[in-house]
Amino acid sequence: MTPTVLLLTPFTERFMQRLHQHFTVIDASSWPDLLAGLRGQEEQVWAVITSAVKGVPDKVIQQLPQLKAISVRGVGLDQVNLTLARDCNVKVSSTTGILSDCVADLAFSLLLAVSRQIPLANDFVRSGQWQNQAFPLASRVNRKRIGILGLGAIGGLIAQRAAGFHMEIAYSGRRAKPRVSYAFFDDVQALARWADYLVVAVPKKTQTDGLVCAAVLDALGPEGVLVNIARGSVVDEQAVLQALRHNVIAGAGLDVYATEPCPSEPWADLDNVVLTPHIGSATRETRQEMEDLVLDNLIALHQQGHLLTPVD
Ligand code: 8YV
Repeated sequence: MTPTVLLLTPFTERFMQRLHQHFTVIDASSWPDLLAGLRGQEEQVWAVITSAVKGVPDKVIQQLPQLKAISVRGVGLDQVNLTLARDCNVKVSSTTGILSDCVADLAFSLLLAVSRQIPLANDFVRSGQWQNQAFPLASRVNRKRIGILGLGAIGGLIAQRAAGFHMEIAYSGRRAKPRVSYAFFDDVQALARWADYLVVAVPKKTQTDGLVCAAVLDALGPEGVLVNIARGSVVDEQAVLQALRHNVIAGAGLDVYATEPCPSEPWADLDNVVLTPHIGSATRETRQEMEDLVLDNLIALHQQGHLLTPVD
């Protein structure tokens, strides 16, 4: 008998075809009430497939007695209770590694877009303003200072891109990395004071909640730019809005928010912020590789007894 997989979020047609070749599928991706929809089928579910953003409710883990695995499309695991999964003997896999380059690309796109005012320049040409006036001067990126908050896989790739722009690079994190030559700051405020760009690349954890607070933005200062491609919870969003309104910082590039999808109103009249809708990994090539790995993890567990990219 083929094992049954519960799907919590929509995937591509291509993925669905492959999935059906290997498993029996309960597609709950559009169900308004997951537990009600599952009633009577709880005993069947062998694995859950979800995204990093969607995660898995604790109740789902608790109420599926045969659940053996959760395969996550993405790398941030803040929406999966790993302790509960371990206690229930449920293995978890992620698509670690695959998306890091695309997320680092997006961080740099935001950094460039804010500093060189690309969205405003685009409006300037389209609206015909160029016929009558010159576009205002923007701010140089190359040879400036970039402070990376969290020098993990994605932070490291952001640093590589920054090196190509001849930037001075420093970082902050839980501890200094022994084989890294960039300057280490053990204090986020001190890193912000030093940096022209503060780029947030730490995972969501209780220790990182609100790490970029009003005092950090003050330290970043009126020439400084904040970029966040990690999680909305890491920055105090109200403090960022205040800082942008009152020119406490020069600008921000944000891909992640306190609530997603985020309301548009608070940002609508601010022209010193560039916003993207949580699209760090959202390229066709990367999403295809991520989807393949989501499924390959479950095939490997079923056929060989182990996940390919398990989470510790
Ligand atoms: C995912 C994310 O890529 O991986 C993460 O941590 O934040 C997301 O961008 C998304 O959930 C796609 O599955």
